[in-house]
Amino acid sequence: MTFLQNSDSTIYEILHSEYVRERDTLELIASENFTSPSVMEAAGGVMTNKYAEGYPGKRYYGGCDHVDEAEILARERAKTLFGAEYVNVQPHSGSQANMAALMTFLNTGDTVLGLDLSHGGHLTHGSSVNFSGQLYNFVSYHVLEETGRVDFKEVMELAKEHKPKLIICGGSAYPRFIEFDKFREIADKTGSFLMADIAHPAGLIASGVHPSPISFCDVITTTTHKTLRGPRGGMIMMGKDGENPWNKIAPKSGRVKNISELIDSMVMPGIQGGPLMHIISAKAVAFAEALRPSFKVYTKQIVANAKTLASTLTSKGYKIISGGTDTHVILIDLTNKNITGKSAENCLEKAGITVNKNMVPFDKKSPFITSGIRVGTPAVTTRGMKEAQMEIIAEMIDSIIIDFENDKKINNIKNQVKELCNDYPLYKDLFTT
Ligand SMILES: Cc1ncc(COP(=O)(O)O)c(C=O)c1O
Repeated sequence: MTFLQNSDSTIYEILHSEYVRERDTLELIASENFTSPSVMEAAGGVMTNKYAEGYPGKRYYGGCDHVDEAEILARERAKTLFGAEYVNVQPHSGSQANMAALMTFLNTGDTVLGLDLSHGGHLTHGSSVNFSGQLYNFVSYHVLEETGRVDFKEVMELAKEHKPKLIICGGSAYPRFIEFDKFREIADKTGSFLMADIAHPAGLIASGVHPSPISFCDVITTTTHKTLRGPRGGMIMMGKDGENPWNKIAPKSGRVKNISELIDSMVMPGIQGGPLMHIISAKAVAFAEALRPSFKVYTKQIVANAKTLASTLTSKGYKIISGGTDTHVILIDLTNKNITGKSAENCLEKAGITVNKNMVPFDKKSPFITSGIRVGTPAVTTRGMKEAQMEIIAEMIDSIIIDFENDKKINNIKNQVKELCNDYPLYKDLFTT
C-alpha cells in the first residue's frame, strides 16, 4: 500500500480504517466474507486497465489474449466446480446476473413466481422498487408460519392459477436447504422455466454441503462473494445448454442457435458493456480455491458454526425462524426479547458485532425497523473460528440484547470482541500498522 499512502493519504487512511474495522469486529453479516489475499491481489491487478467488450475469441478490442486466458480459465473452473455445461462469468453483480437471466427467458409483462422479500426473497425477485417488479408480473409465494419453510402447497396453487413462465427459487434470508427437486416438480406441472438464485449457498453447493440445482433448474444465477468467498460479482450457469423447451423463448432468439448464446447476448450487449476483467481473474482464483479439498472442510465448518450459534441462542430463549438452520444463515425473531431488529443491529454494532436487521416472515414492523436480525457464519469461519467461539459469540449477543441500554456492559463486551478477534488475525500483512 506504499504507493497509495504516498500519493493519496486521505483515501489511504479511509482504507486503513476499514481494515481496522474488519480486523477488530465480528462480521456476522450472512452475505459477507473475507477473500484470500490472492483473490484481492488479482482484483487489484493490471486487468483493471483492460477493455474487453465481447467474449473470449470475439472481442471488440485488440490486446485481449491474456484477458481471454483468464476468462476461459474462470469459466472452466466454474464448470468443474458446479458440474455446469455453460457458465458466463461476466455479470458485475448478482442483480445483473438475475437481470440478464430474466431477460433471456421472459418478455416484459410475463408472469413469474418468486419468494416474498419479507419471507426471505431478494429485491430482484419481484420487489416493486426493483426492475424485476417493474418489468414483470411477479406473484409472491411464502413460507409457512409454523415451520418457516417454503409453503409448497401454496407454490403449487399459485403456479396452477397464474401459469408463470418462470419460477425463481432461492433467496437472501432463507436458512434451510432450497428444495430444487420440489420446485422442479411444480415447474414441470405448469410448463414453467425454473431459475435458481444460489447467491447465498453457492459455496456450500460447490462443495456438496448443500444439494445442487444443476440437474433441476433451467438456469442458475449466483454471486461470487458470499459463501463462495470470491470477489464481489455475479455469474450465470446452466447444467445443460439447449435442452430447454426453447421454442417458448424463440421470438427473442433472433440469430442465436441456443440458449447460452442468448444469455451471453443479454449480459453483453444487453445490460453491460466492458467486463471487469480484474474481477473475472479474481473469480478464477477463488474458483481454484473452492476446488481444493480444504474448501469443503471450510464450508462444513460454516454450517457447523451456524448450527451451534442457532442452538446456543435457542437455549437462551431466542426464536430462530424454522427452528434452526441447514446453512450459514440464521434468522432470529426478537419479538419476545422486546427489542426491534434496528435497535439490536445498533447496540450489537456498538460492541463490534456486525449483523443486519431483517424482516421475519409475517413481520408487523416495517423494513426500516423489523422484528428480526439475520446472522451468518461465513466470515468468522474464514478467520478460523469454530463451535467453541460460536458459543462465546452467542453469550455476547445475548448479554447485549437483554441489557441493550447498558453502555458500560456494551463497552466491556467490545473489549472481549477485540480480544477474540486478536486471536484470529485477519490480513496480517496487508497494512504494516
Ligand atoms: C439471493 C440474492 N440474489 C441476488 C443478490 C444480489 O447480489 P448483488 O448485491 O451482487 O447485486 C443477492 C445479494 O444479497 C442475494 O442475496
